[in-house]
Amino acid sequence: MYKIAVAGTGYVGLVAGVTFAEVGHHVTCVDIDEEKVKLMKSGVSPIYEVGLDELMQKNYAAGRLDYTTDYESAYKDADAIFLGVGTPEQADGSANLSYIATVARQVAETIEKDCLVVVKSTVPVGTNDKVQQFIQDFLIHDVKVEVASNPEFLSQGSAVHDTMHAARIIIGTESKWAEDRLMEIYEPFQLPIVSVNRRSAEMIKYASNDFLALKISYMNDIANLCELVGADVQDVARGMSFDERIGSKFLNAGIGFGGSCFPKDTKALDYIARQNGYELKTIKAAIDVNKDQKTALYKKASKRLITFSGLKVAVLGLTFKPGTDDLREAPSLDNVPLLLEQGADIYAYDPVGAEHFAKFYPEGRNGNGSITYVSNVEQALKDGNVCFVFTEWGEVKAVTPEMYKNLMRTPLIYDGRNIYSVDDMKEVGVEYYSIGRQA
Ligand code: UGA
Repeated sequence: MYKIAVAGTGYVGLVAGVTFAEVGHHVTCVDIDEEKVKLMKSGVSPIYEVGLDELMQKNYAAGRLDYTTDYESAYKDADAIFLGVGTPEQADGSANLSYIATVARQVAETIEKDCLVVVKSTVPVGTNDKVQQFIQDFLIHDVKVEVASNPEFLSQGSAVHDTMHAARIIIGTESKWAEDRLMEIYEPFQLPIVSVNRRSAEMIKYASNDFLALKISYMNDIANLCELVGADVQDVARGMSFDERIGSKFLNAGIGFGGSCFPKDTKALDYIARQNGYELKTIKAAIDVNKDQKTALYKKASKRLITFSGLKVAVLGLTFKPGTDDLREAPSLDNVPLLLEQGADIYAYDPVGAEHFAKFYPEGRNGNGSITYVSNVEQALKDGNVCFVFTEWGEVKAVTPEMYKNLMRTPLIYDGRNIYSVDDMKEVGVEYYSIGRQA
């Protein structure tokens, strides 16, 4: 078993660290934030992720997992150091690599034995060649360092499961030594491993995420056409899904993709293409479709209503998808400001995301309208004039047409996730609009 250090304790770093400990490695997770380290030592994950706290507690108690702000002690005699720090999007769409550079320098200045540095963060193609050179330039001790690319494919909300049961592990290395060491680290997971060079590994991550984003935008484009020609996008998707070449996943039309990855990675690949004098037309289209899709329901509702001013508007779901408290690029963030600007009185419900959302839009008067955070769906719907569904949480899916009919003053629903039956709504007399289906 190996001695592993992990830099960064966000979704990628923490889940990697915890699962490496779970399969028997000795892991130290490094973060600059003292409070976060204290929290993790007490067995509490700083991110909301099913099953993570339990694994943290179990492996910490077993002495296989620890947390520290002292990177020197963690890095100096590690066999492998995994980098899971963020690469946020910059204004021009490119990835900000300053966190990667900071850690790379710390690594170079501290390691005292031969070490494999593994970059899990999503980085532009060619970055890891530069990281290799950068570490080499700043090395203090006479040791061997090899940089490997090992992109992460976990989804938020099912991160632990996705890591333990990944469809594949991608390892990108430039030497047999690095390849063997990384293969051995992953051996206990018993998962398929695809071993390629560093640049291909970096590209696999972007190409995979952007393909999925493209798939969603394609279905949203088809959904919009379905509405115009009298077809039903869910039936269309079902019909398509039997073709194994298409597959059944990621065919759900909706209110656009959000999260920290698809929006960022589509823009980053578009940027990489432009930097190389190439126009990636498919991905540009995926980005454009997504931008319009985020406010498609709002536009639909605006045509139906004279005004939102003075209307009680229920908003169900704020996070970019269920099972996470993450609001990054969530459709709610595109729609709530529009509704507030138009004078809506919003009653928002989200099982975990409300507190975070209130940091952007504090409770009370907001511009021309107001926002109130409520603790259940019923309170959000009570006496409502309009309801928007932005996230398909279980609690939201469980709302029946009768509840809409009985709780709201005027049951007018705009469902961005296609979670209810059009026929059931019609039968009860609820006015119901969704994406790519007939009203
Ligand atoms: C995504 C990828 O699915 C992971 O494989 C990848 O590792 C991760 O990005 C990353 O790069 O770190 P994630 O952002 O957690 O994972 O979320 P997804 O479940 O993929 O959903 C992304 C967005 O697409 C959500 O807003 C979701 O609502 C939307 N979506 C998804 C649809 O609109 N339709 C679908 O059929 C599927």
